[in-house]
Order: sequence, then structure tokens, then C-alpha cells
Amino acid sequence: MRYVFLVFILGVIGVLAILGPRGEVSTRPPLEVFSDMDRMPKYQPQAKSAFFADGRTDRLPVDGTVARGTYYENEYYSTGESGEEFGSGFPIGVDYDSISRGEDRFNIYCSICHGAAGDGDSMTKKYGMLTVANLTEQRLVDYTDGQLYDVVKNGKGLMLGYADRLTVEDRWNVVLYVRALQRAANGTVDDLTPAKREELGL
Ligand code: HEC
Repeated sequence: MRYVFLVFILGVIGVLAILGPRGEVSTRPPLEVFSDMDRMPKYQPQAKSAFFADGRTDRLPVDGTVARGTYYENEYYSTGESGEEFGSGFPIGVDYDSISRGEDRFNIYCSICHGAAGDGDSMTKKYGMLTVANLTEQRLVDYTDGQLYDVVKNGKGLMLGYADRLTVEDRWNVVLYVRALQRAANGTVDDLTPAKREELGL
């Protein structure tokens, strides 16, 4: 008799477990046997802190800290400045690889505003962004390489900097490509080889 009773109870539990209430929507928090660290005390960005004296959870780095991967012994390489002035020259290899990489980055990050040829004739201009600079104009040809690098890194006027999107090396690659666009836009007959000049009858 005991067995029959036990089997009956287990049967009822089994049936309830399989066919019991399902698909019901509840607004109550679910029963949690193991919470699997779903909830734990932590600070949300920009939230208040009762722990730190200034009441902020976001902490500034300790004075003099240099984040990993952001220290460059060569100041010109990372800032475009030599002493107080913008310097000139390329602290990266000036070769086909650099310029191709520069072209690739330029087309991703700059052409939308400055145009694929760098002349400022771009999609955003079509939609009303009229102040975008023509990178091939003489004023910018006269910029030193370091000065162009600084614009890419820190931005200028209405333009944001690209320090967080382009690595130091890529910024230089882009500047190198901008130099190529400037030469292409301002080329003269003298840039042609004698053979080419003859071919064109110039
Ligand atoms: C969202 C649009 C936009 C993008 C993207 C953009 N620029 Fe600009 N850029 C501008 C505008 C607008 C100006 C004019 C800023 C001003 O004079 O206020 C400008 C100005 C410049 C200048 C001239 C600065 C000066 O001193 O007059 C250079 C050089 C330049 N950009 C290079 C770049 C390069 C290289 C990239 C890609 C890494 C880039 N820009 C991406 C909008 C953009």
C-alpha cells in the first residue's frame, strides 16, 4: 500500500512538472537558486560614489601615469612637434606600403567630408556641410608635415581629431597620402617624364 501511495505522489509531481503552468507572464522576479553572479555590487560609469571623497566613481589616472602603448620616445612621431614648432619630414618609411595604407584609411575616415580626391567635393558637402576644407589648396600644401599630422590627431575648428580611431602610424600614413593627393592635384608638365612629355607633344 505504501508503495502505491509513493508512486502516486511521484506520478502527480511528474505530471505537474511536465504539464504544469507554463507560458505565463509574471512581473515578479524569478526564483533564483543560483544567481550565477547576475547581480553584484559595482559602479556604473559616471554614477555617484559614496566611497571617494569627491563623490565620483570615475577616477583620473594617477599623475604621471603613461598608459600602456601610448609612450613614444620620439616626440615628433607622436605629436608632430619638434620643440615648440611643428616639424617636417616623415618619421615613418615613405614607401608604397605606407601610402597604400594611407589611401585605405583616408577613404574610410576622411573622404566622406574631404572627397576621394581631397578637394572638398564630397557627400557631406552635397548635404550642406560647406566649410569643409579643400586639402589640395596652396595654404595646406604649405603646411608642414607635422602640422597636417596635428590636424589629423587633434582636429581643427569644426573638425574632430582622429586620435582614437587612427594609430600614430596610420595618422602619418594618412598625411603621406594627403601629400600625394596634393601633388596629384597641383601637378605640372614638369612632373612628367621626358618620354611622356614627348608623347603628349608638350
Ligand atoms: C565630418 C567631416 C570631416 C571628416 C570626416 C574629416 N574632416 Fe578634415 N575638416 C573638416 C572641416 C569641416 C574642416 C574645416 C575646419 C574649420 O576650418 O573649422 C576640416 C579641415 C581639415 C584640414 C585643414 C585644417 C586647417 O588648418 O585649415 C585638414 C588638413 C583636414 N581637415 C584633414 C582631414 C583628414 C586627413 C581627415 C581624415 C583623417 C579628415 N580631415 C576628416 C571636416 C572633416
